[in-house]
Amino acid sequence: MASPIIAIDGPAGSGKSTLSRALCERLGFERLDTGAMYRAVAWAARDRGIDPSDPEAVGELAERVHLSVGERVTVDGVDVTEAIRGPAVNRTVSVVAANPRVRQAMVQRQRRWVAAREGGVVVEGRDIGSVVLPTADVKVYLTATDDERARRRPEESAVDLSRRDHLDRTRAVSPLGVADGAHVVDTTGRSVEDITEEIVGWL
Ligand code: CDP
Repeated sequence: MASPIIAIDGPAGSGKSTLSRALCERLGFERLDTGAMYRAVAWAARDRGIDPSDPEAVGELAERVHLSVGERVTVDGVDVTEAIRGPAVNRTVSVVAANPRVRQAMVQRQRRWVAAREGGVVVEGRDIGSVVLPTADVKVYLTATDDERARRRPEESAVDLSRRDHLDRTRAVSPLGVADGAHVVDTTGRSVEDITEEIVGWL
């Protein structure tokens, strides 16, 4: 396999980022956190005083804003790594992410990022195995119990978390769900090492 692709999807707090990081460390792969991209657009809308539910204004913003997503996340050169995890973004990101024009712009950027890599990649999000990279070598859909997911997100209220999940699961375009061919993995009570080795085995 020249440049293997691992797609990781799942709801908030299911363990995507922790597992993606562990896989990248174990395999020497590069990682793309697509959630950070939607968060960055939501942050930019707020920064510019754009109503997150205005489809045209947010769509246009998503098309023209400069995003850099790695260990640090920047929006038009401003470091927003911490700000995009804050309550204001948590509350608006799912509305922004339901916008078809925003999704089209992000999916295009995500595919370009993958095409520009020379080695293996781990891409995490909500629609990676279903829409962005349906031919990924390994697709994983992570779950965890609602209690466990809320415990992993002490900074976000359980109500906000389930509201975000509901919006992500019921939106018209690319709703969160198990992609064809995805392995469903419940991370509740399991170690990161154990799950990492299971996925490496599938690869
Ligand atoms: O870390 P957590 O799972 O809480 O969220 P995230 O991965 O940072 O994603 C934040 C939000 O971005 C999600 O609630 C979705 O609304 C949206 N998202 C999406 O629609 N599609 C993706 N591929 C990734 C994130």
